[in-house]
Amino acid sequence: MCGIVGYIGSRDAAPILLNGLKKLEYRGYDSAGVAILDNGNIKVVKCKGRLEKLEEKVNCDAPVGNIGIGHTRWATHGEPNDLNSHPHISSSGKIAVVHNGIIENYLELKEFLAAEGYEFVSDTDTEVVAHLIDYHYHGDIVQAVITSINEIEGSYALGVLCRDYPDKFVAARKDSPLIVGLGNGENFIASDIPAILEYTRDVYILEDKEIVLLSDKEVKVFNNHGLAVQKKVFKVNWDVASAEKAGYEHFMMKEMCEEPKVVRDTVNPRIKDGNIVLDNIRITAEDLKNIRKIFIVACGTAYHAGVVGKYIIEKLARIPVEVDVASEFRYRDPLISDKDLVIIISQSGETIDTLFALRESKKKGARVLSIVNVVGSSIARESDDVLYTWAGPEIAVASTKAYNTQLSALYLIALDFAYKLGRIDRDYYSKVIEELKAVPREIEKVLANRDIIQKFASQHYNAKSIFFIGRGLDYALSMEGSLKLKEISYIHSEAYAGGELKHGTIALIEEGTLVVCPVTQDSLVEKMISNIREVKARGAVVLAIAKESNKQVCKVADVVVTIPDVDSFIAPIVAVTPLQLFAYYMALQKGCDVDKPRNLAKSVTVE
Ligand code: M6R
Repeated sequence: MCGIVGYIGSRDAAPILLNGLKKLEYRGYDSAGVAILDNGNIKVVKCKGRLEKLEEKVNCDAPVGNIGIGHTRWATHGEPNDLNSHPHISSSGKIAVVHNGIIENYLELKEFLAAEGYEFVSDTDTEVVAHLIDYHYHGDIVQAVITSINEIEGSYALGVLCRDYPDKFVAARKDSPLIVGLGNGENFIASDIPAILEYTRDVYILEDKEIVLLSDKEVKVFNNHGLAVQKKVFKVNWDVASAEKAGYEHFMMKEMCEEPKVVRDTVNPRIKDGNIVLDNIRITAEDLKNIRKIFIVACGTAYHAGVVGKYIIEKLARIPVEVDVASEFRYRDPLISDKDLVIIISQSGETIDTLFALRESKKKGARVLSIVNVVGSSIARESDDVLYTWAGPEIAVASTKAYNTQLSALYLIALDFAYKLGRIDRDYYSKVIEELKAVPREIEKVLANRDIIQKFASQHYNAKSIFFIGRGLDYALSMEGSLKLKEISYIHSEAYAGGELKHGTIALIEEGTLVVCPVTQDSLVEKMISNIREVKARGAVVLAIAKESNKQVCKVADVVVTIPDVDSFIAPIVAVTPLQLFAYYMALQKGCDVDKPRNLAKSVTVE
């Protein structure tokens, strides 16, 4: 949530900041701004709205200078308007701040600073930080930032410009992501790598409570006691093109089209001589025997991947699994101990609720294995074991390819655990591995067949409410299909277990109600057909997702989108793609901003 960027070097700062913000707009896009040190004064340009509006403003009256900070906002405190936009500047005009996170004790600090004569012009928590640093500034900006962050409670990634420092600026982080880009005669800060990738591949990944002093030639890192910290350079091994649209109209479509590749990248390198080898995961057969329970904890789409994870781990490894949304888990005093394994799933590796759930689990002694997409992210660094999903950068707010790779990782884990525990035999193990390796080809077929979904969407995009019903793994899939539709098309939608519908919700089905039914579980086809008949009898229009060989469904559903005849057990990795495409085309038909849906941001780094 919120993207921050900073530059110092010999080039004009404004275009570099704007360019960086463009790459971070997925993190928030209700307002944006820059602050640049222009002839000894901090000049701020900011406004409500998308980045194009800021660009127009900057082009009319461009601040000139080669040191600056920028911000793209997802509002938490105070509505999106010009005044609440970042950067915020202290009353003296000496300090400018951009911030991602939430200052939890801002009211207390505000009261104190107001009594000291500071005037507040915005409703944000961030403005407090600008005044607080100003209050503590007595000629040493690093010390002022350190003193301030030691008084702040909450989460932050900060970029701080000081009028007295024409050739340096400061940054700091806690619980919100921040990296430093190391250039040649220039240096950068950013919330995420794509913002600086055009200029450098060498980065420092900052740890909590680290403070950085950047000049054009040097980057010094300190801890919150002011002691120097030695950092390791992290080399980014992907290129700018993977974070660009590459000719696609939307990132979301590009990312769905990448699904075959990223599933292959996630699965194939982990199969060696017919065996699953899970990178550096050091969980032995002996460890597995001692595991009492597995908890899978995540948010949103990653949580839905976890629901599939529960089914498959329990089915294969026969270890009891609980799956929980991270924001609930961390506050419910969960019954976990050192006998339990917690599997954390996160694309960004920075989701604050998930990160705090991880910390809660470790505090209680559990071992934490995370499935993460972003290398070096907070969740990856704090976990005992990490299994990376190789989905590459995911820019569209709606997660697609990351989900397919999260499922792939969960299948690998389930198979590996089950085999090590002796709960499945070699033949079954090898058979499922072969099926997993074939998944990319099956997704390619689904993508090639997308016209039928586009046509259906063009006829039904005016639907007011859509139900997704499924049984077993198809129920887990329905949850994800429903979320995807809601978040990008703004159509109300609910996911129900097929058998549960008649316990209440079927009352909502009337003439013309759209019902989407994944029917990929062979053992549950008959039951689903009954459910389809029940809703059809009440006037529903049914779109089914079924295997090619399933001729029964064609007789009852209005339209059937087929997927290849994959094994029911691994069907979710293939069958989710038509649901993602359905959400995409519905949103497109409605004229929605597919990649940047309203009220959302890609990475949720505030509670
Ligand atoms: O980065 P994470 O996987 O931790 O993010 C979790 C959710 O915020 C995320 O999946 C969200 O639900 C997506 N917008 C769904 O498309």
